Amino acid sequence: MSMVENTSVSFAQSQSQTQAQSGSRAKPPAVPGIRPITPVVGAEVTGVDLAEVTDEAFAQIQRAWLAHSALLFRDQSLSDADLVAFSRRFGTLDQAPVNENGRMTAAAFPEIYVVSNIKGADGKPIGSLGAGEAVWHTDMSYLPVPPDASLLYSKEVPPEGGDTWIVSMEAALAALPADLSAAIVGRSIKHDGTYNSGGYLREGLRASDNPMDSVGTPHPIVCAHPETGRPTLYLGRRRNAYVIGLPVVESEALLDRLWAVIDQPGLSFAHRWRVGDVLMWDNRSTMHRRDPFDPESRRLMHRTQIGGKVAPQPGA
Ligand code: SIN
Repeated sequence: MSMVENTSVSFAQSQSQTQAQSGSRAKPPAVPGIRPITPVVGAEVTGVDLAEVTDEAFAQIQRAWLAHSALLFRDQSLSDADLVAFSRRFGTLDQAPVNENGRMTAAAFPEIYVVSNIKGADGKPIGSLGAGEAVWHTDMSYLPVPPDASLLYSKEVPPEGGDTWIVSMEAALAALPADLSAAIVGRSIKHDGTYNSGGYLREGLRASDNPMDSVGTPHPIVCAHPETGRPTLYLGRRRNAYVIGLPVVESEALLDRLWAVIDQPGLSFAHRWRVGDVLMWDNRSTMHRRDPFDPESRRLMHRTQIGGKVAPQPGA
């Protein structure tokens, strides 16, 4: 078993211990509990009902957010309006993106993007991304100003599979060998917008596997987080990525070396979903991916996105 898998198992054990110790949730403490999930990324926030967050509790959540880059809240029972209201405390929300099935949103909430493999009575998908693997990515990094953060709320989960993985891009940057760090100084990657993380062509776009002519936006490879100032690797998506100014063959070789770092043990954790979880991640300092799951089982997630405030800026 890898160190990453170990992290996931010990986290699941400590979660159930904490629940057993915490007893009734009838009267949440005024100040939420914060427990790191790994030393480099993620924290579970306990004792908070996201439908009723006081200003004091929110200040604590914000500090944990900037310190840990991903937060998990268990046992939530949120309406779509609650999810939108909590998400809005972090900033203006984006409209749900267009994906392989068009713009799939929750009824009356254009900010809520439905991630699901479920089909409606008409046989058509009610959401995006199906049941396959979603490869490592940062949400919508093909835009000039990508979203700051995403919140995913689980409404139905499969009995197995469908775990969401979060990797620290700050830790990934720190893990680069010296020659690779030197090779990316001052360089930018063009982030492709043709396909989503499930490998589906976005509705309305032209299929392309040519990194030189596919649609996208260049961003620095090393960015400074706009709120913490901490340097972070910013890779976006592997497919059709292109290191500006290099011959394609050299760009591919450099990208392959960078992407190999992401799967090193100790940089990430896997989140095993239960109904009522909210997992939020910082798109500026993490990437995420999803394991596939049995297409016959049902998975239904509602996602919001905090709009970007500034374009990614070069870091040290
Ligand atoms: C996403 O990539 O935004 C969805 C991840 C998931 O379904 O777990």
